[in-house]
Amino acid sequence: MSDPADAPTACESESGTGHTAAAMPQVGQIWLDGRMVEAADAKISVFDHGLLYGDGCFEGIRIYNKRIFKLKSHLERMYQSAEKIYLTPRWSMEEIEDAIRMTVAANDITNGYVRLVFTRGVGTLGLNPFHCRDHTAFVIAADIALYPEELYENGLPVVVAKRRRIPIECLNPEIKSLNYLNNILAKVEAIKAGVLEAIMLNERGEVGECTGDNIFLIKDGLISTPDTSAGMLHGITRKVVIDTVAPALGYTVVERAHGIGEFFEADEVFLTGTAAEVIGVNRIDSTTIGNGKVGPITTALTKQFRTLVRENAPED
Ligand SMILES: Cc1ncc(COP(=O)(O)O)c(C=O)c1O
Repeated sequence: MSDPADAPTACESESGTGHTAAAMPQVGQIWLDGRMVEAADAKISVFDHGLLYGDGCFEGIRIYNKRIFKLKSHLERMYQSAEKIYLTPRWSMEEIEDAIRMTVAANDITNGYVRLVFTRGVGTLGLNPFHCRDHTAFVIAADIALYPEELYENGLPVVVAKRRRIPIECLNPEIKSLNYLNNILAKVEAIKAGVLEAIMLNERGEVGECTGDNIFLIKDGLISTPDTSAGMLHGITRKVVIDTVAPALGYTVVERAHGIGEFFEADEVFLTGTAAEVIGVNRIDSTTIGNGKVGPITTALTKQFRTLVRENAPED
């Protein structure tokens, strides 16, 4: 899979411990700070604070039929993440948009995935980000491996992670920072339990999100999802489902606080994410959700989402 953060969830469809090394995505040209370079020559310094401290931010974006899904929304979230970590990008939003389009074209990607990364740049071995020079930006465009279709039909089993999501006051999860260890360690809990995704609770014990996806439930025909004050990445797929996909089917999504018990008792549970799109959950820990199959509303939402993105994916 080409996407370790959000897809991966979607990407790493292999089960078990996940200790087997996955193949590197086959990529030709990378956009690196204004130049197209061969993947083998796309290198950044070992003194880059993106590497030394996870100091930077990133986005994962889907390409459907050569259209770059919600590109503007991803660029806005990227620049908001950068602002929240006091990183002033070297490149304007328009320049990065051009870079993304150029990279997709250079690699002749029709359906795939874009990874956009800003690193803090080269600095000293100290933490001070303001001693770093030349923030680095790069764009990778690659194929994407998805969850097997069978999981969309039968549902994805998940677990509840023991590890809590980092509180908003410590490092707001709405920042898509390069430091994903909180999610990675919860993901390891999922892998060790033999599943691909884990639900993460906040410090108050409320449901926040999953390691690389947002989460929704359906009870008695009502769709709801944790509100963003629970602490989560403000998912772009989540927003598309709330604003476009659910309303197209006549549903209004309620955003409110949720305890984990509500998910165990839900009729249907589904996840949303750039890589996963809309996928039903059939089991949480050892509890079967609904009748253990993907329910009718989730099935309709998945279909509606796919119609939207496959026919004419909006780039706004
Ligand atoms: C922690 C986390 N939550 C939720 C999501 C889903 O967000 P989006 O729909 O923007 O991909 C992602 C993926 O980017 C993620 O990494």
